[in-house]
Amino acid sequence: MEFRAKTVAESRVETVHIIRPTDLNDAGRLFGGVLMQWIDEVAALVAKRHSQMNVTTASVDNLRFLQGAFQRDVIVIIGRVTHVGNTSMEVKVETYVEHTNGKRDLINRAFLTEIGLGDDNRPAILPRLILETEEDRKEWERAEMRRNLRAKQRKEGFHFYGE
Ligand SMILES: CC(C)(COP(=O)(O)OP(=O)(O)OC[C@H]1O[C@@H](n2cnc3c(N)ncnc32)[C@H](O)[C@@H]1OP(=O)(O)O)[C@@H](O)C(=O)NCCC(=O)NCCS
Repeated sequence: MEFRAKTVAESRVETVHIIRPTDLNDAGRLFGGVLMQWIDEVAALVAKRHSQMNVTTASVDNLRFLQGAFQRDVIVIIGRVTHVGNTSMEVKVETYVEHTNGKRDLINRAFLTEIGLGDDNRPAILPRLILETEEDRKEWERAEMRRNLRAKQRKEGFHFYGE
């Protein structure tokens, strides 16, 4: 295994889908569950590229559906690492509809926490993230705020309210 710090660009992933009839819900729009699968796959691939380990998804936050998408729409999904902790990485995944003229409309944004797994299948220490640009540094700062919020919510048992 190659264990070295990597830039954000090195693990960036972009996938493209064309919406087919089997991807639609009863209202003729892209089924949210299908999009969630695509998003989860992109996040896992980003995390695998960064860590060069097996990974698992610990959480999905702020998954916001901003606009619908329809049959034959071209969907572009872009994932990038925003933060690396000890054993967890935050991956930001943005989904667009790409029009024939090349213009892209953002339809979904999500933040996933991916955990690197060692040979014992337990969380393992990850390679550091090299922040090259001002944008990388801004993303890191925002991600750190979300990471602290998640930790606070876990500590307070927030996720179990309502059970
Ligand atoms: C995610 C999982 C590996 C964490 O195991 P754990 O024993 O709680 O691990 P730890 O407490 O040592 O935490 C490991 C890291 O995960 C992070 N983490 C744990 N639970 C988290 C959550 N709910 N959300 C975000 N991050 C989380 C911790 O902050 C820590 O990050 P750090 O090392 O960068 O500081 C474990 O809960 C698991 O296997 N869950 C199932 C995952 C899965 O199957 N996903 C697919 C869903 S179908």
